[in-house]
Amino acid sequence: MEIRTALFFWLLLSSSAATKLVQLSTSDLVAEPCHSNVTLRCNVSKEAGLKVSSLSWIRKRDNKTLCDNKTGLKSHDGHRIRCSYTPPTQLALTFTHLWPTDRGDYICKLRSNRGIKNNTSKVDVEECYGKVYTDYSPSKVGCHFHGVYPRGEVHWFHRGKNVTSDSTAADPGDPNPKGMYNVSSTLRTEGDPNEYNCSLWIPGAKTYLASALVHGSERGTRLAGRGQAVSVHIVGLGWLLILAGVLIV
Ligand SMILES: *[C@@H]1O[C@H](CO)[C@@H](O)[C@H](O)[C@H]1NC(C)=O
Ligand SMILES: *[C@@H]1O[C@H](CO)[C@@H](O)[C@H](O)[C@H]1NC(C)=O
Ligand SMILES: *[C@@H]1O[C@H](CO)[C@@H](O)[C@H](O)[C@H]1NC(C)=O
Ligand SMILES: *[C@@H]1O[C@H](CO)[C@@H](O)[C@H](O)[C@H]1NC(C)=O
Ligand SMILES: *[C@@H]1O[C@H](CO)[C@@H](O)[C@H](O)[C@H]1NC(C)=O
Ligand SMILES: *[C@@H]1O[C@H](CO)[C@@H](O)[C@H](O)[C@H]1NC(C)=O
Ligand SMILES: *[C@@H]1O[C@H](CO)[C@@H](O)[C@H](O)[C@H]1NC(C)=O
Ligand SMILES: *[C@@H]1O[C@H](CO)[C@@H](O)[C@H](O)[C@H]1NC(C)=O
Ligand SMILES: *[C@@H]1O[C@H](CO)[C@@H](O)[C@H](O)[C@H]1NC(C)=O
Repeated sequence: MEIRTALFFWLLLSSSAATKLVQLSTSDLVAEPCHSNVTLRCNVSKEAGLKVSSLSWIRKRDNKTLCDNKTGLKSHDGHRIRCSYTPPTQLALTFTHLWPTDRGDYICKLRSNRGIKNNTSKVDVEECYGKVYTDYSPSKVGCHFHGVYPRGEVHWFHRGKNVTSDSTAADPGDPNPKGMYNVSSTLRTEGDPNEYNCSLWIPGAKTYLASALVHGSERGTRLAGRGQAVSVHIVGLGWLLILAGVLIV
């Protein structure tokens, strides 16, 4: 009995000493727009005599082990989520294309001869859109933002006036499984060939995330830009595409 009690305290003391010795440091909070690349790092402090038996990243939402250097470094979602291990002390988890549904906590867990330890990284997903398409027909213009997060709305400007109230917004419906929306709107033009500015407004962020110009002299649908929350360059890119003759007629 005495020996068992002593053994119990010895185990307790040695394990708490172990958890104080080895340090796991993880990226704290990572906040990036969706569609961007994000890497979470987990570093084990270098300790003499430390033997790592496994180092893993676990998604807290579903308790899924995304990578484990013991069972191998797998990719998930068709290589979208990748792991890289830099022996002996660093395990990195990379999202090559961040989705809104990736928001949440990720746990880095170490199993070693100095005990088991974990630390948590938080991923936050900021507003984004993927691509914007515009189309024109003699009586109306349309603007379609794909891969938008969070839900947004299209505002229209023409000859310096806000003409949003003349437009018809499509119901964005439910988000896709990635957590993103399509935001579309059309505007009757009554044959006016001038430039129309459609802008993506994100009410939650109180900001115009992107804008595109639909020109009266165009026909059909074209890709007017692709985004990563950089609204200023979008229109410029659209015109570059036209200059380069990529315009789909
Ligand atoms: C977790 O990681 C953070 C950031 O690197 C560090 O400041 C913190 O001390 C770590 N926590 C534990 C329990 O190791
Ligand atoms: C982990 O180590 C790498 C390289 O040594 C360093 O660039 C990075 O900032 C470290 N990350 C954390 C969370 O400690
Ligand atoms: C998470 O998964 C591990 C191993 O798959 C299991 O041992 C553990 O009990 C699970 N934890 C929770 C909270 O479900
Ligand atoms: C996991 O990391 C430990 C510590 O560096 C190493 O001894 C072990 O071989 C690694 N496992 C794999 C499968 O790479
Ligand atoms: C994201 O990572 C992929 C794959 O490594 C790379 O091809 C792409 O250029 C990266 N994108 C950005 C914006 O860094
Ligand atoms: C992480 O460590 C804490 C404190 O040691 C523990 O309560 C928790 O169960 C651990 N979580 C996982 C997923 O191992
Ligand atoms: C344009 O009109 C819409 C709808 O009436 C309104 O919500 C928006 O704030 C206006 N935007 C500007 C820049 O005036
Ligand atoms: C958005 O539009 C694209 C292209 O038309 C389509 O493939 C996708 O399913 C749509 N997504 C949603 C959430 O409706
Ligand atoms: C379109 O209108 C928005 C909102 O007024 C503005 O921020 C943006 O710069 C305009 N884009 C162009 C190309 O004029």
